[in-house]
Amino acid sequence: MKLKFFIFLIVVLYFSVTNIYSNNNALERKIDSLLSKMTLKEKIGQMNQENFKSLNDELLEKVRKGEVSSFLNITNAEDINKLQMAAKESRLGIPLIIGRDVIHGFKTIFPIPLGQAASFNPQLVEEGAHIAAVEARSVGVNWTFTPMLDISRDARWGRIAESFGEDPYLVAKLGTAMVKGFQGKDMSDNKSIASCVKHFAGYGAAEGGRDYNSTNIPPNLFRNVYLFPFEAAVKAGAATIMTSFNDNDGIPSSANKFLLKNVLRDEWKFDGFVVSDWCSMSEMITHGFAKDRKHVAELSVNAGLDMEMVSGTYSAYLEQLMNEGKVSVQVIDALVRNILRIKFRLGLFENAITDTNSPTVMYADNHLQKAEQAAVESIVMLKNNQNTLPLRQVKKIAIIGPLANAAHDQLGTWVFDGEKSHTITPLKAMQTDYRNIEYVYIPVLTHSRDTNKSNFKKLNSVIKKCDAVIAFVGEESILSGEAHSLSSINLPGVQSELLCELKKAGKPLVVVVMAGRPLTIERDLKNADALLYSFHPGTMGGPALMNVIFGKENPSGKLPVTFVREVGQIPMYYNHNRSGRPALGNEVLLHNIPREAPQHSLGNTSFYLDSGQKPLFPFGYGLSYSKFEYSNLVLSTNQIKMGEKISIRTKVKNNSNVDGTEVVQFYIQDVVGSIVRPVKELKGFQRVFIKANETKEVEFTISTNDLAFWTADMTYKAEPGEFNVWIGGDSDSGLKDSFTVE
Ligand code: GLC
Repeated sequence: MKLKFFIFLIVVLYFSVTNIYSNNNALERKIDSLLSKMTLKEKIGQMNQENFKSLNDELLEKVRKGEVSSFLNITNAEDINKLQMAAKESRLGIPLIIGRDVIHGFKTIFPIPLGQAASFNPQLVEEGAHIAAVEARSVGVNWTFTPMLDISRDARWGRIAESFGEDPYLVAKLGTAMVKGFQGKDMSDNKSIASCVKHFAGYGAAEGGRDYNSTNIPPNLFRNVYLFPFEAAVKAGAATIMTSFNDNDGIPSSANKFLLKNVLRDEWKFDGFVVSDWCSMSEMITHGFAKDRKHVAELSVNAGLDMEMVSGTYSAYLEQLMNEGKVSVQVIDALVRNILRIKFRLGLFENAITDTNSPTVMYADNHLQKAEQAAVESIVMLKNNQNTLPLRQVKKIAIIGPLANAAHDQLGTWVFDGEKSHTITPLKAMQTDYRNIEYVYIPVLTHSRDTNKSNFKKLNSVIKKCDAVIAFVGEESILSGEAHSLSSINLPGVQSELLCELKKAGKPLVVVVMAGRPLTIERDLKNADALLYSFHPGTMGGPALMNVIFGKENPSGKLPVTFVREVGQIPMYYNHNRSGRPALGNEVLLHNIPREAPQHSLGNTSFYLDSGQKPLFPFGYGLSYSKFEYSNLVLSTNQIKMGEKISIRTKVKNNSNVDGTEVVQFYIQDVVGSIVRPVKELKGFQRVFIKANETKEVEFTISTNDLAFWTADMTYKAEPGEFNVWIGGDSDSGLKDSFTVE
């Protein structure tokens, strides 16, 4: 019987593998067949993406001639259909791929990616991306320029808002989830769109946190940190990649042959296509890397950049470069193949036309429910003195601040299609869901940068009649995102003064921060009895926040990025190297330095005289209404050989009378390596729901493959030696043990 079953399995396996192989082969044959019919002009046309401005005959004619492969920034289904019809009328009928920045939702807006990262919930991120794909594809958009997988260790950088934070493992998990959410199991169905993993690569390391600035990432750091999430996303089947604006060590990414060929094609076997960022090719002239537009086209095409976003140098110069023998037809064919492959996989040759009569899917109830769940799980409780939260037995509250009813700003950066009219703000949620509680609403400031304190004087008399105050402060959405770097990351305007004023009234003060980055809030924290950090929570942020504040929801978010005390501490991140003189915690700080102190009396270690060496909050930190206690850390063994596995488990007790979810985190430290290794690295996390007063056992299993890294001789492998492990509720605590790899 067993033999028959075994033979059956082998046969099934053989046919499934050959089936995949033959499907791929069939696809390659289709591509080759189409390519063989294409003229040089038609091939070059496939490498050209244009920005849509308006529909006119001239544009339709360009499409009919096969001079355009893709448009971005068009979302009108009828217009897209007209362009796709024109493409069908072209000599070979190659359809258009239509791109849009659907970064954290199309119409239904989810929390900004940094907020979604705080959920540590890949499944939820995947569901959110799927919802965005359903809404976008319903108008004919079939390509999104996300997930953004830039490791972000600098809160001055406005694009940290679009990232999943500072940790390669978390960014990889959430990035692959987003790729799967957008692309589904089959990109050709009308509920999927192609993803675009960006910005390749190292863009988040812009010097000084100033957007577009140079990066100087050495090879080991590049491999072990910045490229790690991109490789994971490529292995997960990401359809496209976007090059980044920065030059790394002097080489702009849009002509970086090492990245685009050696790494992406030769090592990772990526078979999708690469698109430049907006004019990132022509900007190589500004970089001082290309002498003119023709040189731009030559550098990028020979580096392996398949499609040009809007700068038009391919259309203008590739034919001339071919005639001059500076570009070969083989190079062009290989790049065009990559583009055709994705268009075939998207099913565009069969169904590029959108059914404009189907009922709208925008803002569907299930979409809004999922967005609300995402907003709840993106909220991180950073303080809750004397269990101020959840608010209980309150009859009247004061709702204060410029972000209490900021329908536009609550959506966050990179929102092109979500409408603020659909935003449910905290004030609106109060008015509809908490009618039994009286409230008074005073914005006090018109927006986050407002410096007018004239409304402060009336606060005291109003608040005296209230049982508690909820202050909604933070950043307008425009203060983060692309090109919006800040050299100070305090609360903007006079919001900190506002919190001081509110504290004087002597009522419980709950502070809610909506922002696109971790702000330096130490001074504000002192005035808060409780503080919720909600990043920019999206369309449903209002109900999510009010339900957490009044206890219908128990916060579970954990910080995906370190919160520094002062901007001068940046860059500060949890998975740093130890240095030869790590801070010991006993250093003498500024206010304790004796007069005329001897030169070496303060401690010769790595710390700041004024702000010490610890951040305000570490990566992975977040409070709950429940109280989680860890015990009984047990390893399956204390010694393993290369290639073997080890399991680490612990008990987590919810020592409270409130059901809750804890993000249990698993970290390792490679104690000695052929290059210096980080003091800690996240290697696992699990969202664990634990009922009141119950205990659950949580287990993580890793193999030595999970300990591999790019070593001193630039080979990727694990090295023998001692490893420390922690399991806990953040990167700065937890139960510790160790094991050895022989
Ligand atoms: C922008 C951004 C990129 C975006 C693209 C298209 O400059 O850098 O992330 O996808 O242009 O809008």
